[in-house]
Amino acid sequence: MPKPIHYAVFPVAGKGTRFLPATKASPKEMLPVVDKPLIQYAVEEALAAGATNLVFITGRHKRAIEDHFDSDTELEQLLVEKGKSDELATVRSIVPENVTCIYIRQGAPLGLGHAVLCARSVVGDHPFFVHLADDLIDASVPCLEQMRQLHEETGGSVLGVQRVPRDQTDQYGVVDGVPVDEHVWRLKGIVEKPAPDHAPSSLAVVGRYILEPEIFDCLADLGEGAGGEIQLTDGIARLLADGEVRALQFDGIRFDCGSKLGYLEATVHFGLKHEEYGGQFSDYLRNVIGPDPADRSR
Ligand code: UTP
Repeated sequence: MPKPIHYAVFPVAGKGTRFLPATKASPKEMLPVVDKPLIQYAVEEALAAGATNLVFITGRHKRAIEDHFDSDTELEQLLVEKGKSDELATVRSIVPENVTCIYIRQGAPLGLGHAVLCARSVVGDHPFFVHLADDLIDASVPCLEQMRQLHEETGGSVLGVQRVPRDQTDQYGVVDGVPVDEHVWRLKGIVEKPAPDHAPSSLAVVGRYILEPEIFDCLADLGEGAGGEIQLTDGIARLLADGEVRALQFDGIRFDCGSKLGYLEATVHFGLKHEEYGGQFSDYLRNVIGPDPADRSR
């Protein structure tokens, strides 16, 4: 029986250069989609999959993340005085009481593999989730929970994957696997940012991982990989020598909120789903876009 997963690691130390100037002085992970920052969507997904220890790998200019998950007695007092009970409930429920937040500083953004290695002293000998907050996934069963269910059955490490257009493989870690069923592959290999002609498949890893603790040894003495960074993908390739790794094509829609276009798409998607404003927002978009093409030709 695989060990249950209680740790979730959130690497949030990246520079977010694709989103400048917004990310010059404030973290990419605090960008809001409608009314919640990306990192809060991330935490909610991890909590829904059973995580109780949240490990944030932070860097310079990331203090806003710590503040967001800390209690703010002054703000709470103000909301009490003003009788704003809904808002009070909202800020108090950001992190449940049984959950611990731990912050580890990554001295320099040497790469995702290095960021994950920074969690070793806290995570120790346990399997853990890794969640990249800029990959926002809308799913009826949260993506990490889908992966946890597979892990409970099989053990081993699990990667969340999605099919991407062939000409985009050089933006992702891409897996080479043997199909186990329609949505699961057993990995034979994995490569970071392969050119489309060299990509082993079009199945790309999109910011969700369950990793067995053996990954830390695989990352410990890893050199620079693609882009001069210490790559998690290269650590996973080493893990394959002794450990089982599966890829799960999860059910859900994913938005790359680290890119401006993906962020805009996410804002429209979640805006349209918003309980209070979805209807009005939909009317607004219809007005902006104008009548549908069939009407226009008349
Ligand atoms: P990205 O590849 O998106 O890099 O990192 P980035 O620096 O955040 O953004 P761009 O490409 O410059 O726009 C993927 C995830 O890994 C984290 C990032 O915070 C992001 O969540 N990361 C990356 C770290 O925590 N440390 C690193 O050294 C690198």
